[in-house]
Amino acid sequence: MAWITKNSAGAHIERQSEPYLNDEMKQELTPVVDRYPRRQAASLPLLHAMQEKVGWLPPQAIEEIADFLEVPASEVMDTASFYEEFWLKPKGKYVIWLCQSISCEIMGEPSLTDRVAEFLDIQVGETTPDGKFTLMKVECLGYCGDAPCGLINEDIQQKITPDNFIEVLKNLD
Ligand code: FES
Repeated sequence: MAWITKNSAGAHIERQSEPYLNDEMKQELTPVVDRYPRRQAASLPLLHAMQEKVGWLPPQAIEEIADFLEVPASEVMDTASFYEEFWLKPKGKYVIWLCQSISCEIMGEPSLTDRVAEFLDIQVGETTPDGKFTLMKVECLGYCGDAPCGLINEDIQQKITPDNFIEVLKNLD
């Protein structure tokens, strides 16, 4: 297996003047950190808390978490980039997850994905320029009997047809 690497050493980090991990958040998270024998062990709960607050994990926020945990930023980034649940770039207001596992695939997921991508004018993994929609694929959601299925944020969508799904998207504010 080949690892795909990229040189991040010279990457430009967008910065805001206010810290993401402000004093109030540090105060809230200190008892979480104190539950662990080593500060680094609190990386996951802190990343979840930050993503809950900001919606994704900006590089500046990862650096601030690393400072708070007294570990190199690269180690927190290692953790954040390992899990698909963490967003390392901004996501849309509505994240559309289309199931690509076998039942949904047989029931038309490929053409559904093509239609949705065409409607939104983005590819899977991308976000519309207005920040409204992100299109993603996901593995089995456990609703195989009602395939094809997907999620709009947390809301399950079953027996999707391209036409009715696009109508649903058109009606989202
Ligand atoms: S295969 Fe799509 S929900 Fe199970």
